[in-house]
Amino acid sequence: MSSAWEWSMEPRIFTHVDVLHTTQRRLEIVWAIFPLICEKHIVDIVEKKKLIYSIEDMTFVDWTKDTSGGETMPDCSAPGRRRSTVLITGGAGFIGSATARRFLSRGDNVVVLDEMNDHYDVKRKEQNIRSLRQEFGNGRMEFFQGDLCDEQLVEHIFSKCNPNVVCHLGARVGVRPSIKDPSVYVHSNIKGTVVLLEAAVRHKNCGNFVYASSSSVYGESTAAAFKETDSIMRPLSQYAVSKATCELLAFTYNHLYGLNTCGLRFFTVYGPNGRPDMAPHRFIERIHRGLAIDLYGDGTSERDYTYVDDVVDGIVRACDRPLGNVVFNLGNGSPVSLREFVSIIENMLGKKAIINELPTQSGDVPRTCADITAAREMLGYDPKTTLTEGLKKTVDWYLNHPVI
Ligand SMILES: NC(=O)c1ccc[n+]([C@@H]2O[C@H](COP(=O)([O-])OP(=O)(O)OC[C@H]3O[C@@H](n4cnc5c(N)ncnc54)[C@H](O)[C@@H]3O)[C@@H](O)[C@H]2O)c1
Repeated sequence: MSSAWEWSMEPRIFTHVDVLHTTQRRLEIVWAIFPLICEKHIVDIVEKKKLIYSIEDMTFVDWTKDTSGGETMPDCSAPGRRRSTVLITGGAGFIGSATARRFLSRGDNVVVLDEMNDHYDVKRKEQNIRSLRQEFGNGRMEFFQGDLCDEQLVEHIFSKCNPNVVCHLGARVGVRPSIKDPSVYVHSNIKGTVVLLEAAVRHKNCGNFVYASSSSVYGESTAAAFKETDSIMRPLSQYAVSKATCELLAFTYNHLYGLNTCGLRFFTVYGPNGRPDMAPHRFIERIHRGLAIDLYGDGTSERDYTYVDDVVDGIVRACDRPLGNVVFNLGNGSPVSLREFVSIIENMLGKKAIINELPTQSGDVPRTCADITAAREMLGYDPKTTLTEGLKKTVDWYLNHPVI
């Protein structure tokens, strides 16, 4: 039997929630027979389950199609599916712009809110928005430049665009910069999330609030593979604290208002157009140009690198499936050491890296490895890209794109 995982502060009371699962199955059946029963009936059932929906604008997905080898899951591309309006915060960034492209490609409307900060070259973000406009025109995409914490702006966006899904990816990113300047992480990642959750609750059309968490919440875990039910009480950086706090906030908003919330813990996402401040792109660029790379620690630290298209697939699946209050790992499940990672890039570029050996940085975790059983079972998430395939595509992209 498949199961749902619910997050709780105390590792002891992490629960394997069959009750939630049963509720979910009942709802799946309700959606499956949606066309056959009257609207009022559905509203009654939905209200009883404390799920916030406006039936008229609800994304209609066909729960009868099986897309996950056994589990009855909605077919997101099913004919007759109603068009969603998805508010993507951080939609000018790396994962956000790739997610916007996926939603626009399948016919949904997208609203982007991004402050376009200069954590890395803002031209990259401008280019991402330009590319989306060139590919899809202005008709189905709206772009708002501004801060998540600007309550008036957020209220204006919800009133004007009426999103039925929030895909909250906007955040200050990076572990090391959060140690240098923690306040900005509290502002964007914690306050910003509260402002957005408040708006989602006020505007009852929002049926699902999906947000980015991070593998960094697991801290210095020594587990062979990290499970959603593991303790996240020992974060090693302010960035990790900000992400763990978002998960607590999501729990509370689900508890108080019945808002569906889904946290996605990403594991080192890489791929074409990736973030220039992250190791994959920094290493590719510097090795290609014959410049030294900084290698922290003895090279044995491991990361569970996850290809961006696989992560985007998981995000879209989570957005399509309101599940109560849940958290999922979106990783790959096969970690690789730093040395091995560098050597794959060296082989692809046909160049030897010049390595600057430096001590381990505080805040860095020694290893990440996702257990993706829950995401597989509940979302049908199925990462397909091996590190070699993904890095090949990333290196090709780098070699064919002028560096901004
Ligand atoms: N890339 C990874 O490996 C990774 C791993 C774990 C978690 N995440 C999370 O995934 C999400 C997307 O990350 P990414 O790698 O695409 O980073 P990114 O920096 O490319 O995108 C984040 C975007 O959020 C915007 N933003 C930041 N603060 C904002 C604010 N106050 N108001 C409005 N916009 C704001 C930035 O301008 C940026 O465009 C983030 O929440 C990040 O914490 C990423």
